[in-house]
Parts: sequence; structure tokens; C-alpha cells
Amino acid sequence: MTSAAVEPASNETATAKDAPRILVVDDEDTIRLVLAKYLRTRGFDVATAESGDGALEALAGSKFDLMLCDVRMPGLSGVELVPAALDADPDLGIVMLSAVNDAPTATEAMAQGVLDYLTKPIELQHLHDAVRRALHKRTLLREQRRVERAIREEVADRTKELEQEKSYLRELTVSVVETLVNAMEAKDMYQRGRSARVAELAASIADYLRLSPDVVEDVRIAGRLHDVGNIGIREDVLNKPGALNPEEIAHVRDHVRVGVEILMPLRHIERAVVFVGDHHEYWNGGGYPRTKAGEDISIGGRILAVCDAFDALISRRAFRAPVPPEEALEELRRNVGVQFDPNVYEALRAVVKRRKTLVFIDPRHA
Ligand SMILES: [Fe+2]
Repeated sequence: MTSAAVEPASNETATAKDAPRILVVDDEDTIRLVLAKYLRTRGFDVATAESGDGALEALAGSKFDLMLCDVRMPGLSGVELVPAALDADPDLGIVMLSAVNDAPTATEAMAQGVLDYLTKPIELQHLHDAVRRALHKRTLLREQRRVERAIREEVADRTKELEQEKSYLRELTVSVVETLVNAMEAKDMYQRGRSARVAELAASIADYLRLSPDVVEDVRIAGRLHDVGNIGIREDVLNKPGALNPEEIAHVRDHVRVGVEILMPLRHIERAVVFVGDHHEYWNGGGYPRTKAGEDISIGGRILAVCDAFDALISRRAFRAPVPPEEALEELRRNVGVQFDPNVYEALRAVVKRRKTLVFIDPRHA
């Protein structure tokens, strides 16, 4: 017989169809055969292997409940066999058979997932008890693993559902507020679609700056909602063609505060609300409403500031034709370091260059 050979279950004792299957692995013929014979008489379905490699071959070919395994064998030792066997079948129960002086090794193997060990010479009654105990322990462990797996799956499913609900709620809220913005913009042909355009450009810049996808999404949302506070501005001021007096300027500036107040209760777009609150701050601290400066201004606020100004220039107004994008970029350049974050301005240049042809196919820009 080769070292990898497996002796089939003997027919000398009939075994029940659902009898536990045991693989006895020992290089000593006598021990292997005696153990197998005894276990068969106790109703187990037994196969044997005379080496570690033979055991792995048997495990690959068929399912066992338990493996009785000698510690010391030529070739693959019992201790080396344990992880490989559990790798082949994580549900396999393993009991080590060791000589007295191998006991520490067998104990060590317990840490790797071995259920029990027996020291040679093995008393057959002890063997039977150990096999029963190990099979019982294995059943408990399998059940524990099954429950843990079920809990993990349940938690993962529930988390996914919650994420979906959260994202649905978020989209619903944003859509409701956006409807308000669209309704306001629809009243003025020069404002129509403005927030949607700012949102797309702002998201492209956020993406270009390699911000994380959820921040990019919040920048897009903030773009769609950034001027919702205009709802609180008197129409005569909002549509005044000439220059505004100081009281009117203060009133228009108040749209940021009003917008933040409208959006504040929407906890699930908290970060986007911060971006909205920062969209008129200046890089040099000269903006409003809080005169924040530099990186104290949220990245979303800095992006919106530059997109808002760029879109205003390239859009047609009652009193002037749209400014070509290259000229608009040149005009904004004068405010880099004053109104705009230099990095964000460079990102705008890159994005506009990349999507130039797409930005201007909208007839409203023509
Ligand atoms: Fe604004």
C-alpha cells in the first residue's frame, strides 16, 4: 500500500446509513487497524489513512465527521496535518493520538482547533468516550458557527436595508427642496436651471480634487440647494436691475442664513448644509455671513463659490450677453487668493477645459 492509500470501510460490521464517519490516521498498521475495527464494532463508519498526505486525499474525496490522528508520522506530521485538514473541511472534528512525550505538542494542537487528544497506549473505552465527546463538541461548534453566520448575515442585510432607506430619504428630501429652488428659478428666465448647472460643475470639481464619493455627493446636493434661501428675499430686491443700496445688499446676503435655517432640520444632509452656509465666504476672510477664511471654509463652500461665480458669468443676463468661458476663467483669476481657493480655481480650469464642448451645448448659454 502507498503512503497515500486509504483503506475502505470494512464490511465485517454493518454500519447505519447515517453513522458518523471517522477517518483514522496512523502510520502504525496495528494501531490503525485495531482502532478502525473497534470503532466499526461501535457502529461508526470508518476509513483509514496511513499518512498525512493520505488523510488529505481522503478528506478531499469524501466528507468525514471526525479524524483521529497520530501526532508523530513520517512525512506530514499530525500537527502539520491539522491546519490543512481544517482548511479542507472547517467542520471536521479532530482528536489527536499522541505518545506520552508528545503530549505538549498535542496540547498545542488544541489551540489550532483540535477538540481533544488521547495518549497512547489507548484504552478502547476511553477512545469511545473521547469520540462521543468530540462528536458532541463538534455538533455544538457547528451550531454556534451557524448561528454566528446567521447573525452576521442578518446584521449585514439590516444594515443594507437601513442604508437604502437612508439614501431614499435623503434623495426624497433633496428633491422636495429642489422643487422649491426650481420653482423660484423658473420665474426668472436668466436663473432657470442655474442650481442644477452649479451642482454638476461643483460635483465634477470635487471629483477632480479626488474627494471621497460621499463628499462629492454632498457637494452636488449643496449645489442643488445652495440658493434656497432666496425664497426669503423680496422679489423687488431680487430682480432689481440697477445697483442695490446697503440695506438691499444686507437683505440679499441674508439668503445664506435663511437657506441654512430651512435646511438645518435635515440631519441626514448635515455636511451639505455646512457647504451651503459657506458658499459666499471668501478665501481672504472678506466674505459673508461668518467671514471665515482659508481652509476654515469647508471644501464644499469653496467649490460652490467658484462654480457660482463662473456660472453667473457664462450665463446670459438681462443686461449683458454671456461671457465666453475662457474670458470668464480669466476674470475669475483676478480673484484667486482673494475670493477663491487657488487649488479649487485650478480644478475649475481643468474641468472646464475637459468638458468645454459639453458645457456650452445648452441653448440657454447661447
Ligand atoms: Fe448664493
